Amino acid sequence: MIYFDNAATSNPKPPAVLEAIATCVRERGGNPGRGAHRLSLAAAETVYTCREAACTLLGAAAPEQIVFMPSATYALNAALWGLVHEGDHVLYSELEHNAVMRPLYALRAARHISLERFRVIGLDDEAILQDIAHRIRPDTRLLVCVHASNVCSVYLPLARIGALCRAHGITFVVDAAQSAGHLPIDMAAMQIDALALPAHKGLLGIQGCGVLALAPHVMPAPLVQGGSGYDSRAHAMPPSLPERLEAGTLPTPAIAGLLSGIGFVRSLGLDEIQSRVKTLFLAARERLETLGGIQIYQATHAGAVLLFSHSTRSATSLARSLDKAGIAVRAGLHCAPLAHAALGTPEGGAVRVSFGPFNTLQEVDALWQALKA
Ligand code: ALA
Repeated sequence: MIYFDNAATSNPKPPAVLEAIATCVRERGGNPGRGAHRLSLAAAETVYTCREAACTLLGAAAPEQIVFMPSATYALNAALWGLVHEGDHVLYSELEHNAVMRPLYALRAARHISLERFRVIGLDDEAILQDIAHRIRPDTRLLVCVHASNVCSVYLPLARIGALCRAHGITFVVDAAQSAGHLPIDMAAMQIDALALPAHKGLLGIQGCGVLALAPHVMPAPLVQGGSGYDSRAHAMPPSLPERLEAGTLPTPAIAGLLSGIGFVRSLGLDEIQSRVKTLFLAARERLETLGGIQIYQATHAGAVLLFSHSTRSATSLARSLDKAGIAVRAGLHCAPLAHAALGTPEGGAVRVSFGPFNTLQEVDALWQALKA
């Protein structure tokens, strides 16, 4: 199978990641923070080492600001439900995934917030900043946006958006689901208040673990209550991070995988990963442009995601044919209907080809041949 669905989940994983997970289950199989025996302490050490690695990777203030969650979606819910208040005005980009939009719609019903979308598609960074700036109101409390779209290779200028938010006292929440492991992230320099990411995409870990990284002055109300491993008589969750937001047993094997994945990404280097996916993107775009009836969307950035549709064949039917040819892509709306609307894709959406660091130019050629056929 040629795997071009890395934006959904990366595949394959580096052998070292799989080995780290197996070793964790085999040799460190206690419950972290829930015992003083050596297996529990070993599990806790794995968890803390991963907090340190994620802290360094993301430019967070301290390992304690790294909170483990079951997924990026869960982390975004924890940030939004924990930080948005009754009646707030919230800004979001037109590229947001349902992991952001559905909590926002639910918050609009539950807390009577007002929502306002800012534009990205077809705008340069300066114009994006201007579009945001003219939507800021005295009651704007939070801005949430993707770092990189899951639908097309578009990146948002986080440092400039962060500076604008800080200047207006607006909490800045970032969905880094597609950028972690691909693009540099520096929470301090970008003035990000809350950042969500999954372990299983660009960071090459497995499903079942996400991260919510918080700036030191940010403390969302807990979304979930439960055991924290200490102060068991207290009726409320502990006051400090990370325990305040980590109710229940952590996914230690997935955290061990994330730790190894971060190590892999750091040793390969973000520059090398970006250069690999850029080469693949440019080659795929060049080849697809030679085919009649193909429309490629927002191809001004060369990144990990290439979106296209065909004038007569539906996206689903193309993806099925590609699957028969042994090529995995994802068709449809990719849980981001606003992004598809902004790009003007057909009713049934488009075909997404998403690259990872292990894809090759030969695989891009195979995609081209299959589409030609
Ligand atoms: N959010 C993932 C994707 O874009 C699942 O495919």
